[in-house]
Amino acid sequence: MGTVFTAREHDGGEPRVAASTETIKKMKGLGLDVLVETGAGLASGILDADYEAAGARVVSQEAAKTADIILKVRRPTSVEIADYRSGAIVIAIMDPYGNEAAIAEMAKAGLTAFAMELMPRITRAQSMDVLSSQANLAGYQAVIDAACEYDRALPMMMTAAGTVPAAKVFVMGAGVAGLQAIATARRLGAVVSATDVRPAAKEQVASLGAKFIAVEDEEFKAAETAGGYAKEMSKEYQAKQAALVAEHIAKQDIVITTALIPGRPAPRLVTRDMLKSMKPGSIAVDLAVERGGNVEGAEPGKVAEVEGVKVIGHLNVPGRIAASASGLYAKNLVTFLETMVSKETKALALNMEDELVKATALTHGGEVVHPNFGASKGDK
Ligand code: NAI
Repeated sequence: MGTVFTAREHDGGEPRVAASTETIKKMKGLGLDVLVETGAGLASGILDADYEAAGARVVSQEAAKTADIILKVRRPTSVEIADYRSGAIVIAIMDPYGNEAAIAEMAKAGLTAFAMELMPRITRAQSMDVLSSQANLAGYQAVIDAACEYDRALPMMMTAAGTVPAAKVFVMGAGVAGLQAIATARRLGAVVSATDVRPAAKEQVASLGAKFIAVEDEEFKAAETAGGYAKEMSKEYQAKQAALVAEHIAKQDIVITTALIPGRPAPRLVTRDMLKSMKPGSIAVDLAVERGGNVEGAEPGKVAEVEGVKVIGHLNVPGRIAASASGLYAKNLVTFLETMVSKETKALALNMEDELVKATALTHGGEVVHPNFGASKGDK
């Protein structure tokens, strides 16, 4: 029988937690001894007593030393790592790109570290896909944040005192977050349009009742990678698209940007001039702000005033809806954990050849094992 420890997130900006009462019960069912660090769930509305009622033992941080498996939201700090025993498994959102030194440190500590965000997007792993579970909530929250800052109503309202027009919402990037933003804005009664560089997005946008806006040339028709992600578009395409978007944005009340390209900085889609063309009091929400930003003038962690437009650049947007985000994240984790525990013997049975393990394992046996973050990169 293994021991699993859910850590409290010591990073003050992280309200999410890696276990819910539901996943505690599941882990107990797997035959694990389940420990939760005191106060771990507070910021997500889960009390120590709730965890205890679900079958966990609430313990102090030092108990991490006894754990075979540590569950976290964020990559452990050096201080936290010092408390883990060599050979322990750590599963978290590791933010590995650009953090090779921190990965090397986990290798040196003898940890087997898994980065949940590297989970392959295949059918078997859908229920372990943290990028999707968290982006979906971020897309929802982006609309709620926009509605809060907007000083008008989103739905059309016909009242005895006159008619309030529906807000026009434009969503740029129709991946997981964007599609949820479209659905949410529609539910609130806005008139919604959206754009993306992937042709597959067109039908998805239309099926949610939004209008699709894009330059649909030959390049657009070929603009999706085998993995379903966006490619960086040519300068010519970007210019054509920018002209179309500029014309469209001038008529919008709220713009929500979610555009990302794996392994590259976020594309700049909304310029200062475009913001200037919007009515005063309009809103832009930049969900890509942590990756360089889609909107000119967006400031990480702030609501900036740019050319009379409120540009919302909140960090950790899933953390703004922490209770829901924790619930889904915890479920993603436990589903992955299930693949590591033998159903017959209830013992830990990590199979380093499993494709999900191979894709997500960063370190194992004292080495950096992931091909994208090899030993030479860790020396930097
Ligand atoms: P993402 O977070 O990497 O990017 C967000 C969106 O921005 C994407 O739709 C992308 O095409 C778009 N974008 C990039 N550059 C742009 C530009 N210049 N202008 C406008 N839009 C731009 O993507 P996400 O949300 O992770 O999803 C990517 C794809 O993966 C989607 O097709 C999604 O449906 C698919 N997916 C598949 C899963 C599975 O098969 N298990 C699970 C989750 C997503």
